Amino acid sequence: MFPMPLPRPRAFSGIQPTADSLHLGNYLGALKQWVELQEDYDCVYSVVDLHALTVGPSPAELRQRVRATAAQFLAAGVDPARSVLFIQSEVSEHAQLTWLLNCLTGFGEAGRMTQFKDKSSRLGEKAVTVGLFDYPVLMAADILLYDAQVVPVGEDQRQHLELSRTLAARLNSRFGPGTAVVPEPVIVKATAKIFDLQDPGAKMSKTGHPSGIIELLDDPKTIAKRIKTAVTDSGSEITWDPSVKPGVANLLTIYSALTDQPVEAIVQRYQGKLYGHLKVDLAEVVVESLRPFRERTALYLDDPGQLDQILDQGAERARGIAATVYGRIAGCFGLGRAGQ
Ligand code: TYM
Repeated sequence: MFPMPLPRPRAFSGIQPTADSLHLGNYLGALKQWVELQEDYDCVYSVVDLHALTVGPSPAELRQRVRATAAQFLAAGVDPARSVLFIQSEVSEHAQLTWLLNCLTGFGEAGRMTQFKDKSSRLGEKAVTVGLFDYPVLMAADILLYDAQVVPVGEDQRQHLELSRTLAARLNSRFGPGTAVVPEPVIVKATAKIFDLQDPGAKMSKTGHPSGIIELLDDPKTIAKRIKTAVTDSGSEITWDPSVKPGVANLLTIYSALTDQPVEAIVQRYQGKLYGHLKVDLAEVVVESLRPFRERTALYLDDPGQLDQILDQGAERARGIAATVYGRIAGCFGLGRAGQ
C-alpha cells in the first residue's frame, strides 16, 4: 500500500482586470510567486472582476480585460492542470460571503483602509461608491471562501490582508475555532514594491503616468524607451542605495528579479560603468524575458474555445470548494433551515 499523500496547504490570490495588460509590478510582486507556489500548494487564482466594477469600466471593456487577464495568468505559468483558475463573478458565494462579513466589519474599521482613503480623497465624496468602501471586505470573502492559508501579494495589499485576518479571527471567536482559516500574507521583500520609472517614490501602478510603467504586453521598442527614459539619480556610479538612489535601486531590483541574480553581483559587474550601460542591458533583459510571455498570451487569446474550457473547469472546481465553505460559515450565522 502506498501512503495517501497529505493534502497540500491552500494558496489564494487575485488580480483585477482593470487594464489590457498587467504591468511589471503585478508580475514581480505577485504573479511570479503564484507560479512558484504551485510546486507546494493547492492554488486557487482568480480574475477578480467584481472588484474591477469599482472603477466603472464599460461592459465591453470589462469582458475583454477579463479574458486578457486570464490569458496572462496562463502565459505567466499558472497551470490549469494543477491550479484552479476562475473568474470571481462566476462563483456567487463571493458576493454572499461579503454580505455576512459586512455584518461583522466595523464602519470605522473599513474607513481606516489607506487605499480607500487615498482613492476617495482623489475622487471626491460624490464619486465614491459603497463598492469602493466595501472592496477590502469582498477581498476577505475571496480569501476565506477557499480556506486559504497563504495569500501571495505585493506590499500594497498588506493592510487588506490584515483585515482578512481580523475577520477570520472574529469568525472563530464568535462561532468557535475552525469556522475560518486565518490567512498569512506571502510578500517577497525584494519585489514587494516595484516603483514608477518616472517617480521612484511611488509604486508602479495602472493609474500612474504611462511612461512610468512597463506593461507586460508592451512591444520591445516601447519597453526599451521606457527604460532608457527612466529617472535616475544624481551622480553616475551604479550602487545599491535605495534611500539615496531610488531610481537606480528600482532598475537593479527589476534586473535581479528577472535574471535571478543577486543585486550585489550585478552592481559588481557595472563597477566603473554608467547608468546608460545598465539601462541598455536592462532593456534587453526585460524585452527578452517578456517576449515568450507576449507570444503565449496571444496564443491563448487566439483560441477562445480553449480559454473558455479552462475557465469553465476552473469555475466548477472553485464552486465546489466555495459552496462547502460558505455553507459552513452561513450555518454558523443561523442561515439555512437545516442547521442546528
Ligand atoms: P491589483 O489588481 O491592484 O494588483 C495585483 C497584484 O499586483 C501587486 N502589485 C504590485 N506588487 C509590487 N509592486 C507594484 N508596483 C505592484 N502593483 C501591484 C498587488 O499587490 C497585487 O498582489 N485587491 C487586490 C486584488 C484582490 C486580491 C484578492 C488579492 C482581490 N481579492 C484576494 C489577494 C487575495 C488588488 O487590487 O490587486
